[in-house]
This record gives sequence, C-alpha cells and structure tokens, in this order.
Amino acid sequence: MNGAFEYRDGLLFCEQVDLTEVAARAGTPCYVYSAGALRRAFGVFEEGLAGLPHLVCFAVKANGNLAVLRLLAEAGAGFDIVSGGELFRVLRAGADPAKIVFSGVGKTREEIEAALQAGIHSFNCESEAELMLLSSLAQHLGKTARAAIRVNPDVDAATHPYISTGLKRHKFGIDIAEAEQLYVRAAELPGLALEGASCHIGSQLLDVAPLIEAAERMGALVERLRARGIALRFLDLGGGLGVPYRKDDPWPDVPRYLAAVRELAERLQVELLLEPGRFIAGPAGTLLSRVLYRKTGGGKEFLIVDASMTELIRPALYEAHHEMLPLRQPGRGRLVADIVGPVCESSDFLAEEREIENLLPGDYLAVMTAGAYGFVMASNYNARPRPCEVLVEGGRWRVVRQRESHEDLVRGEEV
Ligand code: LLP
Repeated sequence: MNGAFEYRDGLLFCEQVDLTEVAARAGTPCYVYSAGALRRAFGVFEEGLAGLPHLVCFAVKANGNLAVLRLLAEAGAGFDIVSGGELFRVLRAGADPAKIVFSGVGKTREEIEAALQAGIHSFNCESEAELMLLSSLAQHLGKTARAAIRVNPDVDAATHPYISTGLKRHKFGIDIAEAEQLYVRAAELPGLALEGASCHIGSQLLDVAPLIEAAERMGALVERLRARGIALRFLDLGGGLGVPYRKDDPWPDVPRYLAAVRELAERLQVELLLEPGRFIAGPAGTLLSRVLYRKTGGGKEFLIVDASMTELIRPALYEAHHEMLPLRQPGRGRLVADIVGPVCESSDFLAEEREIENLLPGDYLAVMTAGAYGFVMASNYNARPRPCEVLVEGGRWRVVRQRESHEDLVRGEEV
C-alpha cells in the first residue's frame, strides 16, 4: 500500500532518490517524506468515499510541515487542527478555511476568535462551557459558528493506553449517555449552528471493528436526535486507522471501514468527515541517522547513533517499535543491539535488543514509519537543534525545513 522506500542494488531509495545522498548532503538526523506516498495514502480515502458528500481532514498534529500541508491541500484535503498554532500553519500553507475543523478539549478564547475570523468549517466542542463560550464569541463577532459535539461513544479502542481516548473515564468528549440532553440545551444557544456530531476513539487501530462500532453508536445518536427534532448535517468520525510498524503487522482493513462508514452516511444523509493523521503521514516518512559509536557493556551491544528521543520520542514514550534499515546493506552479517541516542536519559533508545545489520560508525540507518508523530513531537532537550526535513518527489528532493541552528536555540532569551 505504500512502496515509497525500497532497496535498489543494496541501496535504500525513497522514490527515485538514493537516501545515502540525502543523508550525506542534508546531514543527519534528518526526516525524509515521500510526496508520492502522502498522495497515495490520501487517495485511499478519496477513492473510498468518491460520490459521497465528504471531507477528509488531515490531522495536522501528525505532521505539520508546511510543504506536507501544501501538498495535501493541493490534493483536496481539509485539516483537523487542535490549536491556534496549527490554524496559523494550515493557513500559511494555503488551506481553504472552509475545510478546517477545530478539535481539542482546551481551546482558548483567542484561538476560538482566530478560527471564527478565518471562517472554518466547524468546531468540535468538548464541554458545555466551551459551547457557551463559542456562542458568546460568535455573537460578539457577528458570526454563526458551526459546531459539533464531540461525543465519547464508550468503545474500547484496544490500543496503547496513552493513545486510547474513547472510554468514559477519558477526558475527551461528552459521554454518549449525556450528549442528547446537551444537544437539546445547546440548540437554543445564539450564534451557534449545532449541526454535527464527532468522535475519535483512539489512535493506531489495526482492527477496524472498534471504529465501525463507534460509527454505529454515533449513527444511532443521530437518529435519536432526529426523533427529537434536532437534525444534524454532518458526522465526523475522527482518525485512528493504524499502520504496520512491524514488518509482519497487518494493514487495517481500510476498504471495509470506508464501506461501512459510507453506508452509514448514505443512510443518515449526512456529510461525512474523517480526521486521519498517522495513516496518511506515518509510512510516508523516515528518520535518517548515522552511527556514531559502537560499544559493549553488561553483555550488551550498543549502537550509539546521532538521532535520539529528541527527534523521535515514540519508543521512549510508548515503547513503540520502528523498523531500522541500513541505507546500504554492507553484507557484514547481523547483530543484536540496543540502538540508542546521545541524550542523557536511560529511556533514550530507538530500539532495544534489536536484530539488525552489522553496522559500523559512519554507516547510516533509516528509522522507518516515522512520518507521523515524529518531527512534531521533537524537542530541544539537551539543547539539541531540531533536525531538518526533506521532501522527495520522484527523482528530486529538497529541504523543506532547515535544521535548527544554535542561534535558533536561544532566540527570545535574555542573559
Ligand atoms: N482526531 C483527533 C481528535 C485526535 O485526537 C487524533 C489523534 C486524530 C484525529 C488523528 O489520529 P490518527 O489518525 O493519527 O490516529 N502521539 C501519539 C498519537 C496521538 C494521537 C492523538 N490524537 C503517537 O505517536 O502514537
């Protein structure tokens, strides 16, 4: 389904570009994204939903690079944002404001005002207090805010606890049992067009059954509301589709998922919104790194590389698995090693006890499936400049975000 990264004569390529050349010229650590893979993954949704009134809103939190956002906007994507900063980014990238949805449990007054001024598609509201604030700000600005209530459908997403969001005990959304009453109360609020319902039950789901279960519960809610005279016009089912991080992981059954949600939207006669992030950007990106040192200790072998938890925090934070591929297959056999970065934390590892090609200092490796929740979660801990980002398109590549400099690190500070 992806196919952007493959070996040719022992060299790892992204599309028609030799990644060793990128690593040598752009330096490491460095994120590389495939334009073709981004477009193909986005196209999966467009094809599956063709003919249905729909909007595929890329979740900007997964990858906010301006060039990536521009490419997706040109392909017809809308955007799911969660902050004023993400609103600024998508507008800067040239997004159509009418295709932006604003999610998030803690929107500030300033963020809501900026989104109202921009004229976004809708707000996914997560509390009664937020609906009331939205109503008063919209009235004040002489606007009508389109809104959905983010409902918590109480479905177990069966994913890592840190990225599961759809159970009653989570901070997200309004309990589905209480949502109906809130719709009735909020329908009276001035300045609001409460026309939608939204949900998002969690991320990295390889089984689509919980996503379909949540969609059905949302559909039933739409029908109950209709029976009470509240007619919703759109249903936003969030993101959540997973990707295979391990080479033996399955892809989620996306055709089955899209067929199910399409059938639901047709039956309810609503516009369908989706908010995929990882599925579009994850497999389209890789993080290039260089081996700095090898050492053994405590009976273990360590490969110390120049990428760390500051570039990719997923292994440290979620014990996430990312495949590691050498940029050249040196044919020196294999070894089992911990692949660790330079940061002063024991949790600074990219992989533990991993069987990998026998790499030596100076060799490059690619941390795969790093296009989503990679650069966006990068930090400057240990005063490490954030890495550069490269976009590959066919046989060409360009730096779409420069590596940070030491001056960047102290910008705005005073002695
Ligand atoms: N919509 C909402 C309201 C969300 O909260 C999220 C993700 C998405 C859409 C996109 O979900 P996706 O299609 O990417 O699964 N940092 C974590 C992932 C956190 C996801 C948070 N919400 C990770 O690295 O795995």
